[in-house]
Amino acid sequence: MLEIAPSILAADFANLGENIEIVEKAGIKYLHIDVMDGRFVPSISFGMPLITSIRKKSKMIFDVHLMIEEPERYIGEFVKCGADIITVHAESCKHLDRVIAQIHETGCKAAVALNPATSLSVLEYVLDQLDMVLIMSVNPGFGGQKYIPYSTEKIKTLKSMITKKGLSTLIEVDGGVNASNAREVMEAGCDIAVMGSAIFGGDILENYRKVQKVL
Ligand code: DX5
Ligand code: ZN
Repeated sequence: MLEIAPSILAADFANLGENIEIVEKAGIKYLHIDVMDGRFVPSISFGMPLITSIRKKSKMIFDVHLMIEEPERYIGEFVKCGADIITVHAESCKHLDRVIAQIHETGCKAAVALNPATSLSVLEYVLDQLDMVLIMSVNPGFGGQKYIPYSTEKIKTLKSMITKKGLSTLIEVDGGVNASNAREVMEAGCDIAVMGSAIFGGDILENYRKVQKVL
């Protein structure tokens, strides 16, 4: 079964509360929240104040994707404002093992994201400490990009690493996932598919129905 995590990056910010209410009422469990600092990725999105205000309105699982340099500086703050899962990029952590422990100490779930060109081998020694791995299927920084085809192979390889080690680590896939490739991504081993434009671009419920049809 594939869970969908709508990314609010593609939502209508002038009606963000309503947009979130629609996906929550539709029964979607995860809400993907993309934080960008203009350093790790070229763009700047939003930060703690926005998460604090939507936390008051929603009981969804807040899946906070930190596309920021030295994320260890902000773990405590993102937990305080309502994150349930914190994802850090392997490429932005000098001491990845330490950051994972830091997230767990707060009681939050910990995940590591890998850019398309980053090898799965960086996970070899930490995989058993992770609740989730996020495979970026576009270069992070913007919504609405095209799915990079080799990501499917990467998801399959990660799935077999997880199975071989007897773990139950979840696989999340982020970037360019929509109704036309959601099935491929799910069959490769993805548990949670992030969808920005494929859910929030246009009629939200109609988009969600389109995705459900192919799963
Ligand atoms: C990209 C972000 C994604 C983005 C996905 O850097 O991490 O979560 O919002 O958007 P779509 O689904 O439109 O590719
Ligand atoms: Zn994301």
